[in-house]
Amino acid sequence: MPNSYIPVITIDGPTASGKGTVAQRVAQHLGFHYLDSGALYRLTALSVMRRATPLDDEHALAKAAEHLHCHFNGAHIFLANEDVSNDIRAEEVGNLASKIAAIPTVRQALFGLQLSFRQHPGLVADGRDMGTVIFPHAGLKVFLTASVEARAQRRYKQLIDKGFSANMEDLSKDLTERDARDSNRSSAPLKAAEGAYLLDTSAMTVDQAVEQVLSWYAAAKALHTQSE
Ligand code: DC
Repeated sequence: MPNSYIPVITIDGPTASGKGTVAQRVAQHLGFHYLDSGALYRLTALSVMRRATPLDDEHALAKAAEHLHCHFNGAHIFLANEDVSNDIRAEEVGNLASKIAAIPTVRQALFGLQLSFRQHPGLVADGRDMGTVIFPHAGLKVFLTASVEARAQRRYKQLIDKGFSANMEDLSKDLTERDARDSNRSSAPLKAAEGAYLLDTSAMTVDQAVEQVLSWYAAAKALHTQSE
């Protein structure tokens, strides 16, 4: 394999499908970097909320994305040096992230930042358009889904664990609306990339999902080495 080759694994899927947990575990196992692209949209949403940027001012929203002062340190996510790891997980931040993510200039503003995460020895990137738009030549692409019920339960647990209040009925409604918005937008909609492996994790443990992705990656890597 040439020295310049930096492998990428993309894991796309709907909200609360468990892709973040699986992607982090796969990255950890392989010693790869990890990109939580949803966090970038959430950080933009939080920054916009805090500055009370008018939501109909697309230019100002794109500027907020372009000038995002953020950094990642392990599981901690910082906005202008403040640890906002928990704040960005609030449902209202996720919903606003989904709304502003439909604006092409916002997506364009975050493009370069996402590419910069591709560093040696490799990257696992999770989101909605990792395999379709950001890393279309990734060596392994996965589309990870789960039923609305399983996802609502996972999100409920996640929110309660972080000290937020949550209600299953509202969560299922939120998830369904968010899926529709993320899938039906014209710019980089949520969909499986060409050649992506489909993984329905509704009845799977995290360990099983991680093992499956690792075994697909081992096969993809062997194929890549053979073709060198
Ligand atoms: O994965 P998440 O729930 O943290 O993402 C929050 C929102 O950000 C999601 O509803 C849509 C948007 N998003 C996107 O449009 N493209 C990505 N690659 C990642 C997230």
